[in-house]
Amino acid sequence: MFLNKSPLKQKIDIILAGFIIKIIQQNQTLMKPAVCDLFKIKYPIVQAGMIWCSGWELASAVSNAGGLGLIGSGSMYPEVLREHIQKCKQATSKPFGVNVPLLYPNIEEHIEIIIEEGVKIVFTSAGNPKTWTQQLKQHGITVVHVVSNVKFALKCQEAGVDAIVAEGFEAGGHNGREETTTLVLLPMVKKAIQIPLIAAGGIGSGASMAAAFALGADGVQIGSLFVATQESSAHQNFKEAIIKSNEGDTQLTLKQLTPVRLIKNKFFKEIDDAEKRGASNEELQQLLGRARAKKGMFEGDLEEGELEIGQVSGAIKQIKPAAVVIEELMKDFKETLESVKQIEL
Ligand SMILES: Cc1cc2nc3c(=O)[nH]c(=O)nc-3n(C[C@H](O)[C@H](O)[C@H](O)COP(=O)(O)O)c2cc1C
Repeated sequence: MFLNKSPLKQKIDIILAGFIIKIIQQNQTLMKPAVCDLFKIKYPIVQAGMIWCSGWELASAVSNAGGLGLIGSGSMYPEVLREHIQKCKQATSKPFGVNVPLLYPNIEEHIEIIIEEGVKIVFTSAGNPKTWTQQLKQHGITVVHVVSNVKFALKCQEAGVDAIVAEGFEAGGHNGREETTTLVLLPMVKKAIQIPLIAAGGIGSGASMAAAFALGADGVQIGSLFVATQESSAHQNFKEAIIKSNEGDTQLTLKQLTPVRLIKNKFFKEIDDAEKRGASNEELQQLLGRARAKKGMFEGDLEEGELEIGQVSGAIKQIKPAAVVIEELMKDFKETLESVKQIEL
């Protein structure tokens, strides 16, 4: 390269080469996580769709703060869902989505409303990803499905979803029977799939976000932390129960019916005892009922109601605005990435 060049030209060549290397390095550092491109959002944070807790107020607050807000349709009648979508559209110009648990009644009506209202992102869960993915995609909707094991992750990829949420045993709400933790699940799912991977379960800080990225995630889905925000529609009693809870205060129960992680209150003990004495699925179903979730999480009955929350609740100590939660997560995330870089080997 330097042959037959004057010393001045050689010097210019060296400076130019250094300049090009710097640009390449900068471009490498500035590469956005895959989910930011997929959803057209600033930060790789998805606020989970959650029954009784994530209506339009929370979803729009998260989207306005640079994350992806999801309306939890699982506790909504069809016309209530329509109202939440319309209010969310008024409250934010940023992308937002709807979470649709596929086993709930009214599913056809929910899908119809989502399409009619022009929602562009849908997270499906608790059901077969093959049932609705192609129909949603034909309407230009980005589809993501939630799984708790590798087998279902492969099924989702085959069904043509755009990304997968891998949710570990720590998570709040309904969960897998396998009890695979997020730490173990993520690398296994990452190895098996070629599409973007979103980590869920136990993420309550920027440091745990960084851990998820280290294990192969392209973004995170966070539930419990957003239940304890000002904009969540959870009852104040439930929010306070979360910030008062300690390590070990939640447990996965109803493993034979539909495994769910709950705060260990009076209602939990009733169903846990019933399961242990071998109650039939019908009896358990009756004890559980949808009304119990509303009673606990939306109406604030801390004894008789069902309180779905993740293990990470033991680390949540304050009720904050959703935008502050996002800001703190991103600050901690960046600081953690920097501190990892300091490690000398
Ligand atoms: C109160 C509550 C309600 C939930 N409801 C739903 C739901 O309706 N649909 C769903 O797919 N997941 C639901 N989940 C699971 C979340 O979407 C998410 O994957 C989980 O909360 C992530 O784990 P984390 O709680 O440790 O952040 C719920 C979780 C909580 C805490």
